Amino acid sequence: MPLIARVKALRRLHTGPEEIRDAGGPVTLVRLGPRRLAAPMAVVTSPQGAHNVLGGSDGSFDKEMITFVEARKWFGDNLFNITHEPWLSRRRTMQPLFTKKHVAIYADRMADIAQTSAATWAKAGSIDLDKETRRLTMRVLGQSLFGLDLGAQAEALGPPLNRAVQFVTDRSLQPVRAPSWLPTFARHRFRTAKDVVDRTIDDAITAAQDDPGRNAELIRLFFETTDSVTGKRFTDRAIRQELWAFLFAGHDTTATTLAYSLWALGRDGAIQERVAAESAALGDRPLQVDDVAHLPYTVQVIHEALRMCPPAAVLARMAMRDVVVDGYRIPAGTNVVVGVYALHHDPTLWGDPGRFDPERFSPDRSAGRNRWQYLPFGGGPRTCIGDHFAMLEATLALASILRTVQTESLSVDFPLVTPFTMVAGGPVPARIRARTSATPT
Ligand code: HEM
Repeated sequence: MPLIARVKALRRLHTGPEEIRDAGGPVTLVRLGPRRLAAPMAVVTSPQGAHNVLGGSDGSFDKEMITFVEARKWFGDNLFNITHEPWLSRRRTMQPLFTKKHVAIYADRMADIAQTSAATWAKAGSIDLDKETRRLTMRVLGQSLFGLDLGAQAEALGPPLNRAVQFVTDRSLQPVRAPSWLPTFARHRFRTAKDVVDRTIDDAITAAQDDPGRNAELIRLFFETTDSVTGKRFTDRAIRQELWAFLFAGHDTTATTLAYSLWALGRDGAIQERVAAESAALGDRPLQVDDVAHLPYTVQVIHEALRMCPPAAVLARMAMRDVVVDGYRIPAGTNVVVGVYALHHDPTLWGDPGRFDPERFSPDRSAGRNRWQYLPFGGGPRTCIGDHFAMLEATLALASILRTVQTESLSVDFPLVTPFTMVAGGPVPARIRARTSATPT
């Protein structure tokens, strides 16, 4: 594959690794220029390779790739971007807040926000699924973790959040980066966008300080914890840096999962009605955490949406020493990209991978599947801390929405782009109708 094609393929984070696999195999070393200018990159697309890269717990593969270095520079350290050593104790500190048992306390709010949103959509008649699911997930995050009813702000916060993250991704992809002090237009746009998000986060921190009764668990955890590295309490600035990670890792990802699920169901009436019937069978009352056990097919639909459209299309690391990945030796200093989208669409691993088929995730058909061929939440120690939160939210939201309304997708495609996570590349129009038996809200 010529150099220019390699660079272009790597910019298409979702389908690029597939092209590289087809040209070079499951572990392909891609050179992007002379070593002194660009570190080599290994693209890994086999379950065994993914296991080797993500599964270890000794820091042999670390978040030292340029994306994370830039993210630390512009956003400051947080759970998502820090390297192995400081990460170990920080993850231990935060983990209790994100267990399956603990996130259950957010269920009522998640269901309520979804049901109210659906009723509003029905009144509007036609909506953009991308925009509306972003608004929904931002409200859930705000109310659950930050103790903040973002209301109208929920919509206003998304664009600056994405602009700021995009700036860092773009910089990471540039072969030569302008010094960070140089007052470029891009840097100005970044600062303006970051200020908007910072102000909202700061409001949440102040509100939690002023009102100890406020439901802002994640923020309160930082008030009460000492930083394992400095041994000191987290400053407001350090808390803000951490909260950034939860906003950008928890917002787009869950929104796109919901938007994709609703789009796919809006094109397949039979699957949609099966989901609607499953939640309708639970009665008219608002859904609760215990209901999830009675929504197995809805969960299968979400798993299939995450297979077709994994928001984290690739996972990136750097090899910190010489290592062997799926039988291939990779030298220290190599950037390593695990192609999650490529794994999820590999025809040797999945029959008819381009077809949306929730039955793949039935207990029978899932039995014996290699755990490393399906990685929507990553794998190994740095797996998503918000996985239970996201699955609870997506399940309750999808079930609450589809027993309230019927959706019909007005576009044949779900356009995908990967500015950082994989998101809808444009509006996803849908016609929404209230179900006649829907619960009034
Ligand atoms: C469907 C929704 C979601 C998907 C697909 C997703 C996916 C992922 C993936 C693949 C990773 C691992 C990244 C890596 O290995 O480099 C990750 C990490 C992370 N996610 Fe999620 N995520 C989702 C929702 C959430 C939510 C709702 C939150 C917060 C409430 C969250 C917070 C985080 C954080 C903080 C990390 C870094 C964890 C660490 O390094 O210890 N995510 N996510």
